[in-house]
Amino acid sequence: MRSSLLSLWLLGGAFAARPFLNEPDTGFDEYFGSLKAADLAPLDSLVGLPDFEEAARRMLPIANYTYYRNGAAGEWSYRNNLEVFNRYAIRPRMMIDVTNLAASFPRSTTILGHNFSAPFFIAPCARGDYGNIDAEKGLVEAAAAEDVLYIPSLSAFLSIEQITAYKTDGQVTFQQAYLNSNETATKELFARVKASGAKAIVFSVDSAANGNRQRAARYGASSTDVSYTLITWEFYERLKTLTDIPIVLKARSTRDLSIESRAAAKLTGRSPLEVAIEINQKDPNIFKEIEVYADGGVRYGADVVKMLALGVRAVGIGRPFMFANVWGTEGVTRAIKLLKTEIGLDAANMGVANLKNIDQSIFVWTPNSVPA
Ligand SMILES: Cc1cc2nc3c(=O)[nH]c(=O)nc-3n(C[C@H](O)[C@H](O)[C@H](O)COP(=O)(O)O)c2cc1C
Ligand SMILES: *[C@@H]1O[C@H](CO)[C@@H](O)[C@H](O)[C@H]1NC(C)=O
Ligand SMILES: *[C@@H]1O[C@H](CO)[C@@H](O)[C@H](O)[C@H]1NC(C)=O
Ligand SMILES: *[C@@H]1O[C@H](CO)[C@@H](O)[C@H](O)[C@H]1NC(C)=O
Repeated sequence: MRSSLLSLWLLGGAFAARPFLNEPDTGFDEYFGSLKAADLAPLDSLVGLPDFEEAARRMLPIANYTYYRNGAAGEWSYRNNLEVFNRYAIRPRMMIDVTNLAASFPRSTTILGHNFSAPFFIAPCARGDYGNIDAEKGLVEAAAAEDVLYIPSLSAFLSIEQITAYKTDGQVTFQQAYLNSNETATKELFARVKASGAKAIVFSVDSAANGNRQRAARYGASSTDVSYTLITWEFYERLKTLTDIPIVLKARSTRDLSIESRAAAKLTGRSPLEVAIEINQKDPNIFKEIEVYADGGVRYGADVVKMLALGVRAVGIGRPFMFANVWGTEGVTRAIKLLKTEIGLDAANMGVANLKNIDQSIFVWTPNSVPA
């Protein structure tokens, strides 16, 4: 291991230039017709992660919806993160016994030594109260019910302690944090995290400055301020001395990956999938030496399988679960179940027999032909 405490997390950042479909047409309109605010769409009629967003968009006040829908500036990275998965294909394998695939889900995924039943987790998102009066309660409870990892945001509506109170006995969570050079405050926070029983601190290092979120700014639903935070490798080293809890770095630019790695692999920060491809081509051992997680734009089972095939340990999902949380615990639980099912179906159709053992050769490196 290069460093047992160093884990990295890739986020997106790149460009797309074609018309963009935020909500792919899978017949939602025909089915729901004129579903309007206050008609909570029946959960059993929502059949995939994008449905939760589409239904929530019609039900939530626009400012609330926008807070979650939000992307930075012209939203190029946001779009690319969603679209890029479609530009790389999987090479399906036939005549493989996939009948035990479902049985490989429980404990399929180990994240920092903790077992979970799916290779995806609930990424930290601020302000669960925009979607549900019980705020993050549904996320905590559904994660426990489905045995997946939940990483509460430090900017959650509920406090660390309130979230802890909703946890099930033995439930493993990590705690996201923003940290600055005030060591007194950091120590206080680390003590609270420790007391909460969270098993890792996820330090978001992609907020040296706040995001420029134009869509949200219209509704005053953006957290934009103009402060800057000093975040360096020296700072990270210092933080590690302040706690015995593992610290996971949540980073946007993958040039950071070259730090602590042998080569000055100049990896540019693009979408998580493109970054994973680049790492895989230039320094695939990184995936073996440290655990790499990734998030941004993951919506379908096939997206998850592609990331796993490249060597990513687990993928995070943010917005879809915030939208699912409009339906509370049941909604998030359904979203998790749907994605597990999709991963199973997609993996089986690709000839994957065991989720723990996804063969890299199923991934097709050459970008697909892209619809113009
Ligand atoms: C509304 C919203 C709030 C977020 N808040 C945080 C946060 O407080 N801390 C953090 O590290 N990341 C935060 N993120 C980023 C998510 O952890 C995650 O990287 C991103 O949502 C993944 O992309 P996806 O939404 O396309 O799945 C937030 C994202 C959104 C959309
Ligand atoms: C995780 O699962 C493995 C087998 O898949 C098992 O050996 C190990 O004991 C489990 N760890 C925990 C903490 O449950
Ligand atoms: C919209 O967000 C506000 C918080 O800004 C919250 O108080 C309100 O309950 C939310 N509305 C709905 C319908 O969830
Ligand atoms: C640092 O954090 C502590 C504890 O939260 C606070 O009392 C103090 O004012 C902070 N110091 C500065 C310089 O902001």
